[in-house]
Amino acid sequence: MTAAWDGELYSANTAHHRAYDAAVLEGVSVPADGRIVDVGCGVGDFTRSLAALVPEGSVLGVDASAEQIAAARAAGEGERVTFETCVAQRLGEVVPAGSADLVISVACLHWVPWDDHPAVLREVGEALKQGGAFRAEFGGAGQIAGARRVLDEESERRGGPVSPWTFPTDEEYRALLVAAGFDVSWVRLLRQRRSMPTPDALLGWLRSQVAIAYLPRLDPSVVTDFTAAVERRVVEELRRPDGTYDQDYVRLDLLVRAAG
Ligand SMILES: C[S@@+](CC[C@H](N)C(=O)[O-])C[C@H]1O[C@@H](n2cnc3c(N)ncnc32)[C@H](O)[C@@H]1O
Repeated sequence: MTAAWDGELYSANTAHHRAYDAAVLEGVSVPADGRIVDVGCGVGDFTRSLAALVPEGSVLGVDASAEQIAAARAAGEGERVTFETCVAQRLGEVVPAGSADLVISVACLHWVPWDDHPAVLREVGEALKQGGAFRAEFGGAGQIAGARRVLDEESERRGGPVSPWTFPTDEEYRALLVAAGFDVSWVRLLRQRRSMPTPDALLGWLRSQVAIAYLPRLDPSVVTDFTAAVERRVVEELRRPDGTYDQDYVRLDLLVRAAG
């Protein structure tokens, strides 16, 4: 069962991702007429910014959620930036083999079950031209430990899942990348303190992209109660001494190339 994304709500709560977009583009170079594929593009705000890297080329954003893709298209599609609904595990359905100079992915791959990662890496490798780059960042081991503690306790108490994401270590992921045949430039865990200045920012983040991971596997009769308990507790328990609700992110950050 997959999470239900609300494109409008998500769009209003992406500032903590967008603050890191420039860092994600570090080490990336694409020919001016290149083809970029953004996997798990969400509502497409980062995807649209990628067009500047390929002034004579094009960008395709793909996402598993039709709701996110509808929001991305509504915010602006064009000749050089297009969007398709497609899961990363079957990227080849919308990306011809050997056509991409760069496959990039922000904050998506922790939503993919661990057992599906070899398929995702195979599809990414097939999509890339020889020597093309795969640049990705997503949740790694230790991601949002404080918020997860609250979510897990309230979920488990109601028979729901615990940490329903894939948060690997750098060594676990390096092994997968090597097995998939990539040349590894780097695979590392990055610790970041992401800004959540107010209770409203924290709750917007929680509702738009965090608690939704638990809901499909909770009995519908307990969802309202789960949501109320989690929201009450995070506001009470995650306030820092400086008054913010900043979250401790741990990102699995990688740059690899399709072997030439
Ligand atoms: C936190 S959002 C990130 C969106 C965007 N990359 C950004 O930076 O704002 C995660 C996105 O991953 C998508 N997603 C989850 N599983 C996926 C899969 N298997 N294949 C493609 N997209 C997926 C979700 O639908 C969601 O839009």
